[in-house]
Amino acid sequence: MPILTIESTCDETAAAVISDDGNVLGDCVATQETLHERFGGVVPEVAARAHVERILPVIDTALQKAGVRGADLDAIAVADRPGLAGSLLVGVVAAKTLAVAWKKPLVAINHLHAHLYACQMASDVSVYPCIGLVVSGGHTSLYHCTSPLDLEYLGGTIDDAAGEAFDKVGAMLNLGFPGGPAVSRLAAQGDPKAHAYPRSMLKEPGYRFSFSGLKTAVRYSIAPPGVKDFSNIQLSDQAKADICASFQAAVVDVLVAKSVRAVKAYDAGHLIVGGGVAANPVLRTGLQTAAEKNGFDLVIAPMNLCTDNAVMGAIALEKIRRGQFAPLDLDITAGLQR
Ligand code: KG4
Ligand code: ZN
Repeated sequence: MPILTIESTCDETAAAVISDDGNVLGDCVATQETLHERFGGVVPEVAARAHVERILPVIDTALQKAGVRGADLDAIAVADRPGLAGSLLVGVVAAKTLAVAWKKPLVAINHLHAHLYACQMASDVSVYPCIGLVVSGGHTSLYHCTSPLDLEYLGGTIDDAAGEAFDKVGAMLNLGFPGGPAVSRLAAQGDPKAHAYPRSMLKEPGYRFSFSGLKTAVRYSIAPPGVKDFSNIQLSDQAKADICASFQAAVVDVLVAKSVRAVKAYDAGHLIVGGGVAANPVLRTGLQTAAEKNGFDLVIAPMNLCTDNAVMGAIALEKIRRGQFAPLDLDITAGLQR
């Protein structure tokens, strides 16, 4: 019997119906990008209220697309961590309520583990054991994964996440929100060597990342110190493209180098990469080149499963196989997490 998966950790409201052998029978994502655009970032209360409006229609759409009724479900799974508290609560309360109404067991999903599971879903063979890189708006983390549910945190960002840095650079260049896709589109027209931006922590051993120094370097190449309002900055399209390309190259260089370092240190045959920033074409190419050069298999989440979605909630099937169900008093775990 199929399961229903629910995702509301940040600013996408999503639901999917997935068969017990992992096929996607129906899915729906309602994005809130236009709601947050004028604020230049996700506003937690706005996000939570939008989830409240959308959660039931989104679940209903996913069920209808799948041609499945609530009674036909095997379980209801929901991302309970990590994320924005108000956003998480909406998904978790909806899942619990439906679990009681339809008398179905509840499964709790770790959103970060789900981002990486999107890679297993795209692979015909098991990708485990492997190194996993999560690159999203909230996280830049490396894991040693021995199964979809057994992940050892190796290291991550000590300040901004990679996606957050993309969004902030996009905001400084007035490219709208979220900045990642816009920065990467503009970067395609620019020269990645135009600015020598820092590759922070590249030489430091281990798996820590830092993107705030890079963000500051970009800031000073847009406007001199003292300028606080970026809305009137006059830069040519080529100048903006060069900044985007040089910034992107700096991010990609450190992500690729530290991922390769982890693959070598753990003698892992596979590197798997998930999260919104994994949609970046230059990162994808950089990782592919590194995989060929160093002789490991690379699986990047398919483009449609990089940014937040409920399909990657298929990881709940792994929990069901292990008998790992959640109690009805399941609480959320908000904030950033390892
Ligand atoms: O995984 P996700 O949807 O949400 C979180 O869990 O955070 O990731 C969203 C992040 C945003 O920061 C967005 O700007 C970034 O992914 N992103 C990109 C691209 N597409 C989305 N960053 C760089 N290049 C892209 N093409
Ligand atoms: Zn995410």
